[in-house]
Amino acid sequence: MPKQRENWTSRVGFILAAAGSAIGLGNIWRFPFMTGKNGGAVFLVLYLLAILLIGFPVLINEMIIGRKTHRNPVGAFKALAPGTPWWLVGALGVFSGFVILSYYSVVAGWSLAYIYKTVAGGLNANVDFASIFSAHISNVIEPIIWHFIFMFLTIAVVAAGIVKGIQRSVKVLMPLLFILLIVLIGRAVTLPGAAEGLVFYLKPDSSAITPRTLLDAISQAFFTLSVGMGCIITYGSYMRDEDQIPGSAASVVGLDTLVAFMAGFAIFPAVFALGFTPNAGPGLTFITLPAVFAEMPMGILFGALFFSLLAIAALTSAFSLLEVVVAWLVDEYRWSRARASTLLGVFIFLAGIPASLGYSSLSGFNFLGKDLLDTYDWFANSIFLPLGGLLTAIFTGYVWGARKSAEEGNRNLRRHFLGAWWGVWFRYVIPVIIVVIMVVGIYDTFK
Ligand code: TRP
Repeated sequence: MPKQRENWTSRVGFILAAAGSAIGLGNIWRFPFMTGKNGGAVFLVLYLLAILLIGFPVLINEMIIGRKTHRNPVGAFKALAPGTPWWLVGALGVFSGFVILSYYSVVAGWSLAYIYKTVAGGLNANVDFASIFSAHISNVIEPIIWHFIFMFLTIAVVAAGIVKGIQRSVKVLMPLLFILLIVLIGRAVTLPGAAEGLVFYLKPDSSAITPRTLLDAISQAFFTLSVGMGCIITYGSYMRDEDQIPGSAASVVGLDTLVAFMAGFAIFPAVFALGFTPNAGPGLTFITLPAVFAEMPMGILFGALFFSLLAIAALTSAFSLLEVVVAWLVDEYRWSRARASTLLGVFIFLAGIPASLGYSSLSGFNFLGKDLLDTYDWFANSIFLPLGGLLTAIFTGYVWGARKSAEEGNRNLRRHFLGAWWGVWFRYVIPVIIVVIMVVGIYDTFK
């Protein structure tokens, strides 16, 4: 007899947890930057289309697989296609969770360190922010300590369980995240000169559109919704049978998109008002923004709030990544949750150490011009996630069957939402689009 699994105790509990997974560094850093680079409002429209036509159905489908089976990704594929090798797709997801969290935690550790540095006064107008950042990441020990602290917090919450750990934390952290974001927007848009940033962010510049823009929009849609590796299968597996799926998925997508959109309002007006440029790429968050805060009235307060926002967003995403791996050991091997979270958490912490050392002792490492952390990231985002998404779509379209998937997805709905289009989408539209993204992405890396 499988032992009793927990469920989210309310619809809101699930929605906040899944939105917490979706809302992360992808919303607060990556989305505004991508929008800036790709022609402002034009990118916004393409991104919304990508979310609506691809991200949303894929999210619904992962929730369906989880809720139907009430199992971790490996167990879910085993339950739907017994005696076949399809469980390997779930295993790929579990492995991706392990890899992604190991370096995600290193970056999240940087934001914890920056809360501390801001409050301690280390980030004032007289310093060179680029050298502060490179000094921080090329320190051997310090970033590893923050990485440890971040993993410790993640383990503590996941070990406490779905309801008492994750659900209880996201009920506090997600509203807090919204409040922080609103405060930061209030500060940014009232700075003298903020309007220029708003124009940059919102004015359509169609000359910036290239075929690449469309691909950027689609891959951003995947990344930001946490799909492709079983996070949402796992969270969906704790959904109650009486809840309906498409409405909950719509709330998650709505919240995720709202936060991404709001983040642009917190960042661009401030960057422009203080005379910086918005195209610093990966340095925007840790180099340009601290410089912006240092110039701003009450910058220490707003800087600390911004890095807290980043850390909270990363933390609620980290819960979902660790939960995938933990659910696998708990469901399949009957491990206790406390043991699975602690042991796996420690292994993930250890696996992240090389990613951190890639900027110091292991800086000689080079894979296609990437350091270790970028290499982890490249394998995860350019290979594992699209591959996982592709195989899951093929599984739904051709193996398990779109009809059965739609049946579970339409449960508890008075008017069925998933109709004939569902099969067309999972057999043709989604697989083709993912293959194109993968091929172009890989070509781009090797060319
Ligand atoms: N969606 C998160 C973000 O926007 C990142 C993330 C968390 C993720 N879990 C994931 C991405 C699973 C892909 C798959 O930052």
